[in-house]
Amino acid sequence: MRRLHSLEDLKQWQSSLGGAPLGFVPTMGALHEGHLSLVRMSLARGAKTLTSIYVNPTQFNNPEDLAKYPNTLEQDLEMLEELGCDAVFLPTADMLYPNGLKSREFNFGCLDLNMEGAGRPGHFEGMATVVTKFFEIIKPDFAIFGEKDYQQLCIVRHVVAEENWPVEIVPGPIVREPDGLAMSSRNLRLSEDERVSAAHIYATLATATENWKKFATVEALEKHCADAINAVPHLSVEYITCCDQRELQPIRELDPKVPSRIFAAVQCGKVRLIDNLPLF
Ligand code: PAJ
Repeated sequence: MRRLHSLEDLKQWQSSLGGAPLGFVPTMGALHEGHLSLVRMSLARGAKTLTSIYVNPTQFNNPEDLAKYPNTLEQDLEMLEELGCDAVFLPTADMLYPNGLKSREFNFGCLDLNMEGAGRPGHFEGMATVVTKFFEIIKPDFAIFGEKDYQQLCIVRHVVAEENWPVEIVPGPIVREPDGLAMSSRNLRLSEDERVSAAHIYATLATATENWKKFATVEALEKHCADAINAVPHLSVEYITCCDQRELQPIRELDPKVPSRIFAAVQCGKVRLIDNLPLF
């Protein structure tokens, strides 16, 4: 696996590909099976696969979250190597932000009004700034984004369509721990007790979505989940919202004709966890 530390390295490696399709998997490192599943998807499409590892400061609205973001670089590189990833791009801030750590402006339509967009001001601008920068310098044929960050996936798709980026956006299903907790780099920061509590997020959402017909209203379903999760030690719900999965607008009724998902952000001790599941 080639380790690309500069734009020059990247250019050289790309010129050696001889026109094979290029799949791109952007990450912030601290890799786990969720990330690796995306790399595997790219390889399974017969593409040369480039993973990036870069903790992007402009998408962190909470300085403590950025400062405490786990770094397991050596292990990450070993995992990617073992998987057969073709190259890893390890840029520095100077390469991506030659004019300083600033976000671009975007029009996300209504996609950033709720959930992460409401709770983390500037997060999606920072994310979309770095992702479009990557598209500009890498020019991949396709890029894979996990459904774990469903709103991010929708926003990237929207920006790509709006700005005519010639890249296919491919969604990857959420990979979970055996007890259902969505894999996340932030799970490394949970204490043993918090880790046990965290599993109740998925368990609650999964049971509620399986039994959606038992709830008279959307609000009743959301309240049931919030109450159940808040009753677990260490857990505190920031939001539980049912939205249609295209526009990400809150739904007013439980109608299986409108494909929808339930989205949650839950504080677990000092760690903020997100998850989402299809509703029907
Ligand atoms: P990061 O959180 O490292 O995630 C990188 C990719 O892995 C994202 O597409 C994310 O949705 C996906 N992913 C994370 N956990 C997953 C899981 N349990 N199952 C499936 N996919 C999962 O998302 C980012 O980094 C950044 O915002 C980035 C796109 C790299 C821009 O900085």
